[in-house]
Amino acid sequence: MFKKLAISAVAALTLSAGGALAAEEGHVHDVDFSFEGPFGKFDQNQLQRGLQVYTEVCASCHGMTYVPMRTLADEGGPQLPEDQVRAYAAQYEVFDPELDDYRPARPTDHFPEGNDPNAPDLSLMAKKRAGFHGPYGTGMAQLFQGMGGPEYIVAILTGYTGEDKFEAGTTFYENTAFPGGWISMAPPLYGEDVEYADGHSNDLHHEAEDVSAFLMWAAEPKMMARKQAGLTGVIFLTVLTVLLYLTNKRIWAPIKGKKIG
Ligand code: HEC
Repeated sequence: MFKKLAISAVAALTLSAGGALAAEEGHVHDVDFSFEGPFGKFDQNQLQRGLQVYTEVCASCHGMTYVPMRTLADEGGPQLPEDQVRAYAAQYEVFDPELDDYRPARPTDHFPEGNDPNAPDLSLMAKKRAGFHGPYGTGMAQLFQGMGGPEYIVAILTGYTGEDKFEAGTTFYENTAFPGGWISMAPPLYGEDVEYADGHSNDLHHEAEDVSAFLMWAAEPKMMARKQAGLTGVIFLTVLTVLLYLTNKRIWAPIKGKKIG
């Protein structure tokens, strides 16, 4: 009886804490991304679509200055052919201190800075923000759903209510995912903002998921290699455990088998 009461009290506390957190931190829904779970992989087509959304919409304000453009050709990423990466880079101009002049960017250059000084660099954004918390700082939600960085970005891009307000010289837009509820980024996506070459749906949700997946890849391009290394480690340790168990049994067999007295 007491145990039951205690459990329901804890559950009620957890729920109310979760509710309070959600109100403060905004709503983020889980998304079933292809790269989640121990066997998860980036979806090459999705990354290419995300790159397109990033390039055509986000890059006018945001930069991604920690990511070299040559990585667009990497296996496990968008994996563009080399000539397309060269063409992609060449659409940007960079300042070359050696030439003391501007020149078309090369694949070895990084993605350029954005034009809006208030727009944060997106190189690491998918790892910088967490979509899931609690309850009560235990991180249980993150244990089951992951950190939720890409989910948070999806939630921001789809969380506009249509309300705005003008305050201290800035327009703020109501957003159900942004902490505090008002963000100074105007809704960047409405759906059908880009035309996908692969004919994939370009409604708001798909565009938001594609660009978030792309930003996750940008922030952690080696995720697949990391997961593979982890899995190899687990398999290795499992085999080692079995071998050690058998060895241990064998070493002790003559002594354990003996009857004393
Ligand atoms: C017109 C300029 C503009 C465009 C276009 C734009 N953003 Fe932003 N973005 C901003 C500004 C300004 C902020 C800072 C908002 C704030 O802190 O209130 C921001 C903030 C963000 C944040 C951070 C939110 C946080 O938690 O601090 C993310 C993520 C983001 N933008 C993603 C995107 C994506 C993805 C796109 C393309 C689909 C995009 N933005 C297009 C201007 C822009």
